[in-house]
Order: sequence, then C-alpha cells, then structure tokens
Amino acid sequence: MADSIARTSRPVTPAPPTPASWRLARKLLFSIDAERVHHLAMASLSVWSRVCSVDLPSTDVARAPALQVQAFGLTFPNPLGLAAGFDKDAVAVPAWQALGFGFLEVGTVTAQAQPGNERPRLFRLPADRALKNRMGFNNQGAAACARHLERWRTAGRVRVPVGVNIGKTKVVDNAHAADDYRASFAAVADVADYVVVNVSSPNTPGLRALQQKDELLRVLDVVCGDNAKRQVPRPILVKLAPDLAIEDARGCADAAVQAGCRGLVLTNTTIDPTGLVGPVPEGSGGISGAPLFARSTELLRALAGEYQGKLAFMGAGGIEDGATLEAKLDAGAVLAQAYTGFVYGGPGFVRRALRELVARRGSTAGLVAPITSADATRR
Ligand SMILES: Cc1cc2nc3c(=O)[nH]c(=O)nc-3n(C[C@H](O)[C@H](O)[C@H](O)COP(=O)(O)O)c2cc1C
Repeated sequence: MADSIARTSRPVTPAPPTPASWRLARKLLFSIDAERVHHLAMASLSVWSRVCSVDLPSTDVARAPALQVQAFGLTFPNPLGLAAGFDKDAVAVPAWQALGFGFLEVGTVTAQAQPGNERPRLFRLPADRALKNRMGFNNQGAAACARHLERWRTAGRVRVPVGVNIGKTKVVDNAHAADDYRASFAAVADVADYVVVNVSSPNTPGLRALQQKDELLRVLDVVCGDNAKRQVPRPILVKLAPDLAIEDARGCADAAVQAGCRGLVLTNTTIDPTGLVGPVPEGSGGISGAPLFARSTELLRALAGEYQGKLAFMGAGGIEDGATLEAKLDAGAVLAQAYTGFVYGGPGFVRRALRELVARRGSTAGLVAPITSADATRR
C-alpha cells in the first residue's frame, strides 16, 4: 500500500470530445463572469424543474438496468451523481434528474444561513479544464434546504437518491462545531436519503482542522449518536480533502468506522496548484476538475483498498468522461460524483459519460455489480 499520495502534476490528457453546438455555447458562457453564469444556470434549472416531466424512459442510458447500484440500502439508477456545491439549496432537483444524474448531493448547508465569501470567488481555469473557488458555503441554511427538498418530495418529483451535505457555520468556532453539525443534521435528516459531514472545504477558516482524528470523532459521535436514536437512521458519510497525508486520512477513516458512518466521499477540492499549466487567479481557493483527478483517485484507491467492507466510497475529482468515471469505480468507488466535468461538458455530460462507461466495459450486463460492497457496511 502506498504510504504517500501523489503530489505531482496531472497527466496531460486531451479534452473529452463535446458537440460543436455545446462548444459554441460554452465559448459564449465562458465570456461572462463565472458566478453570474452559475446563477443564470441555476435560475434556468429551477424553472425547468417546475415544468419538466419526472420519469426518464427505461430506454434512457441513465436508467439502464445494468447501471443500477445498491448502496447503503438505497437504489441508485446509475453511479454518476451531482457533487455538492452546485445546487446548495435544493432548488432544481427534478432538472438534475432529467439531465441523467443517478443521484444528487445538495448543500453544503450550514445551521445558520450565510452569504459566503466576498466576490469574486469563482474562477475558470480553461487551460487546465479546472475551476478555482472560494465560495465559503454561501447557502440559505439547512432548514431552507430541507423545506425545498420536502416540497419536491411531497409533490412526488424525486426519483433518485438525494443526499444532503452539511458543513460548519462560519461564525461558529471549532470548539462548538459538533453542536452546529448536530443542528444541521436535525434539520435535514427527515428529508435526506443520506447525509455527508463535510470537514474538507478549504474556504471556511479552520474547517480542515476537523480532519484530525479526535476532532472528527467528537463531531461524528454527536451526529451518529443522534442518528442512531432516529426511527429511520440515515447513512452518514464523511467528505475528506485530497491534501491529507495518508496517515491523517486513515485517522479520519478510523474515526468514521468507529462512529458508525457508512462511507467516505473522496475528495473535495485541492489547495495545491502543482501541475497547473495555465494562469491561476491569486488568493485562496480550492481547485477542482482535471488537475484533481490523479490525486483524488490515488487517495480513493488507497483507502478503498484498506477499508473494503467497512466503509463504502464515493469518488469525486476530475470526472470528465466515461474513462475517468470508470477509473473511479476501478479504484474502489461504488458511486461517483462530478461538478467541474458538467461545467465543461455541458448538458450532455452525464449521458455521454454513461454511454462511454457502457462501451468501455464492453457489455451492459452487470456493469457495476462487482462494486456493490457498500451493502457490506449496512448496520
Ligand atoms: C464552485 C464549487 C463549489 C463547491 N462547493 C462545495 C460545497 O459546498 N460542499 C462540498 O462538499 N463540496 C463543494 N465543492 C467540491 C465538489 O463537490 C467536488 O468535491 C470537487 O469539485 C471535485 O469534483 P470535480 O472535480 O468533479 O469538480 C465545490 C466545488 C466547486 C467547483
């Protein structure tokens, strides 16, 4: 087992092919401020969510029976989900489903609503097919997210698992972090299919210090303790940073197992700009997309190998196409998530990646069957 995680540059791979129409649209969109486009996209997806039909036909690759995954007692129609941070307040759940995602992770939400960091705070790094962000958990608060999700559920509009990612409110210090996570968990637990405890954003001062084993255990014991008292406990996962040394990552995994968590989400963004080929805006922030792929996959491979049967793994970081999606599954992930790949790949991104995954595996039969170890962790 590798004792250190690769810190070096990404392999310089060619950009995955995209349709000419999307490349044209992307050129136009990329000429506008990144956060403004994000809000435009969210506004459109939110409107679309109110009108779009709920079910995808069984002929849709996103509903191909061979792509179905069972994990944590939940059924995922396909293994590619939307990563946290895009739809923080759960305002466009049906639209994400219609785009083919097999599950969504909304949030990060915090116990108290907060505006996030000052703008500008989101940047494109096109030469690297990457993004840099220091959003700082801008969100309407856990209760608002829960309300929105409850509304979609009551209207019968939710067809895929929806997880909620919870973080620490900025004005709460780490000594009181456990109670803050507890409040968020209480707000969302009824409406979340699974909950992710996020201790890995680089954009909330001091948050990553919670990735120290004892600190993490303090938070997880509280959240998992409350969860165990629920009539219907939720699968709880922990999201980690790719910048952790392997021993610290193991400490977090041990804490997760000890507290009764079901899995890890690997990984959040990196603060290490090593290997970027294009210009990078100054200031703090986390880098996502292609440059993160190798590092996040290595951490995934290392921990999935060691914690097989104890924890289930969601892989995130640099998924751009079927090959990178397959690599996450091959590294031991039962499910995978993407954010930046969607920004660069456009509306056809999910189905393209899924079709490529099917083609790469050479068969649609039992496509993801070998990696359903997550159920071994059912408690
Ligand atoms: C603009 C932006 C905002 C993000 N916000 C969050 C967040 O609120 N919570 C979180 O856990 N991860 C957040 N992430 C990290 C993603 O969920 C994901 O872990 C990371 O970007 C790696 O995946 P990718 O390379 O497919 O983007 C954010 C990423 C981006 C680019």
